[in-house]
Amino acid sequence: MKTGMDYFAGIDVGSLSTEAVIIGDDDRLCGFSIVQTGANSTEAAEAALGSALSSAGIRRENLSRIIATGYGRISVPFAEKKITEISCHAAGAFHLFPDTGTVIDIGGQDSKTIRVGPGGKVLDFNMNDKCAAGTGRFLEVMAGKLEVSLEQMAELSLQSKGEVQISSVCTVFAESEVVSLVAQNHPRDQIIKGLHRAVVNRVWSMVKALGIHGGVTMSGGVAKNRGVVALFEEKLGRRIHVHEEPQIVGALGAALLARRESQITRKVVQ
Ligand SMILES: Nc1ncnc2c1ncn2[C@@H]1O[C@H](COP(=O)(O)OP(=O)(O)OP(=O)(O)O)[C@@H](O)[C@H]1O
Ligand SMILES: [Mg+2]
Repeated sequence: MKTGMDYFAGIDVGSLSTEAVIIGDDDRLCGFSIVQTGANSTEAAEAALGSALSSAGIRRENLSRIIATGYGRISVPFAEKKITEISCHAAGAFHLFPDTGTVIDIGGQDSKTIRVGPGGKVLDFNMNDKCAAGTGRFLEVMAGKLEVSLEQMAELSLQSKGEVQISSVCTVFAESEVVSLVAQNHPRDQIIKGLHRAVVNRVWSMVKALGIHGGVTMSGGVAKNRGVVALFEEKLGRRIHVHEEPQIVGALGAALLARRESQITRKVVQ
């Protein structure tokens, strides 16, 4: 007979970062970790899981089920199942903010907007994985050009009184545009705010195509950029939910789906 709590893990292997989340059978968050994906997705998944287990203070053999998600999910051989990021971000966001009707996930390589229904179910979604504009990669390239950190970028944008319009849609052209704007002595904070606006406008067209329903929750690393969040809030005319660790939302969703599936399996077996 099995005694004690059952634990479940979700692992989100993204293009830049890999997260692992451990929950108990009461859905309580017991531990998590965020590591760089680097060149080897399997190693990143192992490292993330190991560190999440230590933060939860439990051993691997205590895990009843592991589900992997994210772009590198196929590289997690020890996961019992792989589920798309769309379902996992929807489940994670709905669990954290139960009024969620729309999720905006902006990661390093793609951006997604998801329409979420009752119970965190996916009703519809849009995804941009063809072009770096409208993703975290765009902001990283621009931060490099302007010699500021991502954290500084957010701060400068929030403080900026004005804004320079960025007309190029493509990352490569926007990069040259930034170089000429700097040469013309445009204030750096105003260029940054313009760059944030460019990302928000691009993703906003995806949000509008799905329609805005209920609470809006942002996940993924770009949600750590308060400058971007503020511009989304300006467009929406109300606050957006952002968890203190927005990068773990997908992994949390995977862990929640692992717990739900194991309950279903148990019912069938009984
Ligand atoms: N502290 C920070 N402040 C501002 N932005 C940040 C910060 N940390 C990360 N980011 C942004 O988050 C992006 C990475 O997001 P995330 O970790 O969700 O990507 P990922 O899940 O690996 O990518 P994908 O889902 O596209 O495969 C970076 O490109 C960067 O723009
Ligand atoms: Mg991601």
